[in-house]
Amino acid sequence: MIAGVALLGFLAWSWWQSRLPGRYDVMSYGAVDQGGAQPIAHHHFGVDSLTGPKGKPDYRVTLTAEKAPVRLSSGQEVDAWTFDGSAPGPELRVRKGELVQVTLVNKDIDDGVTIHWHGLDVPNAEDGVAGVTQNAVEPGGRYVYRFRPEQVGTFWYHTHQDASEGVKEGLFGALVVEAKSQRPGLDLALPVHTFAGHTAIGTHDDVARRAVRPGTPVRLRLINTDSASARFQLSGMRPAVVAIDGAEIPPARIPAGEPIEIGGGGRYDVAFVMPNGVASVEIENSKAALVLSPDGTGEPSEAPSGPVFDPATRGQPTPLLHGAHFDRTFDLTISKKPGFLDGRPGRHWALNGKLYPRVPMFEVAKGDLVRINLDNDSSSVHPMHLHGHHFDVLTRDGKAVSPWSTDTLLMLPHERYSVAFRANNPGLWMLHCHNLGHAADGLTMHLMYAGVTTPFRAGKSANNDPE
Ligand code: C2O
Ligand code: CU
Repeated sequence: MIAGVALLGFLAWSWWQSRLPGRYDVMSYGAVDQGGAQPIAHHHFGVDSLTGPKGKPDYRVTLTAEKAPVRLSSGQEVDAWTFDGSAPGPELRVRKGELVQVTLVNKDIDDGVTIHWHGLDVPNAEDGVAGVTQNAVEPGGRYVYRFRPEQVGTFWYHTHQDASEGVKEGLFGALVVEAKSQRPGLDLALPVHTFAGHTAIGTHDDVARRAVRPGTPVRLRLINTDSASARFQLSGMRPAVVAIDGAEIPPARIPAGEPIEIGGGGRYDVAFVMPNGVASVEIENSKAALVLSPDGTGEPSEAPSGPVFDPATRGQPTPLLHGAHFDRTFDLTISKKPGFLDGRPGRHWALNGKLYPRVPMFEVAKGDLVRINLDNDSSSVHPMHLHGHHFDVLTRDGKAVSPWSTDTLLMLPHERYSVAFRANNPGLWMLHCHNLGHAADGLTMHLMYAGVTTPFRAGKSANNDPE
């Protein structure tokens, strides 16, 4: 009896404790983890001071968020939240080093909208996270983003206000940064998204066909905008993976029959020379496919799929940064834990045993070489995304890998990874799972530079939802 009352009391207390105020500072919750280094003496600076460059933009565009029906190629119509009336939104192609200026206008998305430049390491105030780096833009409002991309590759943009809802509804688009001199050939950005149960490449939820002259160099930029992983089966050509998450790798031939698996938020660029026949890309478990052929006809091959292409074993494993001195080393374990998340009972995602927002916040100083040991202590897949930085993958399950640089690391159940990055972009940055449903259920935390503060507030009455 007394034990029962004590348990009830404990549950009531836990429930009460878990409730988030209507307006709160994301920095006032999680305990700060210093990663094994001494506390840092610092001056204070606000994220709103970390803006992009001034001056006359080389590239400027306005994106208007609005509700609109979107028609898929099968004829299916879906009610979407769009940029400029289309989902995916307009493809943005900019050049390395250009000053880019994007004005976001919100016409009628009541929940508010922002734009996050997924994978581009922009200055913090341009990062587009509601309640962390800006306020969500409400209907009738606008926000101007300015940055100078120095990375060449495949990225995407999407809302970061209640992203699990907004991205699903269609608030995203492809973003390509081209080198100063562009390669010849066919270059296609292919954002994949599931609209109300219909998986589509762009808006093609069935077979898209295109005539391509044999011998043409082709580059396909595969972008997974869904929360679940997507598998791409490539047939009829000799493809190689040439970039992962906007960073080039030495071309890695994809063995025949091996599908590519891309986690939520991830991108792979594949390149090949157009054969004298049908080359196709199919998305497994869907009707969506792209068929390239000399005369623009043909069918996807429906080849059975073999084992999945593994980015970690593209060649000789290379022990990267072996013996390096890390200024800070953090451990991050992902697991499930029963408890209350903002008053909701259930088994939620926990980071180092803590539920959001009381999760650890990693503190670094500018210039630090930082290592994170990630441990997926769960039976789910987690594409872990760090804002504002790319990390180098050092080991998987304790063994050296063929290194690559990534912003969205796909972690399979019970995998452990060690990654490292140079802390060279001051601010307050999110580190979260890009299965956006997981992020909304607590799989989210922050990386903070010593001394950073934010004037923005998360919470329902602040109308800012960083997830
Ligand atoms: Cu693509 Cu924090 O997101
Ligand atoms: Cu996850």
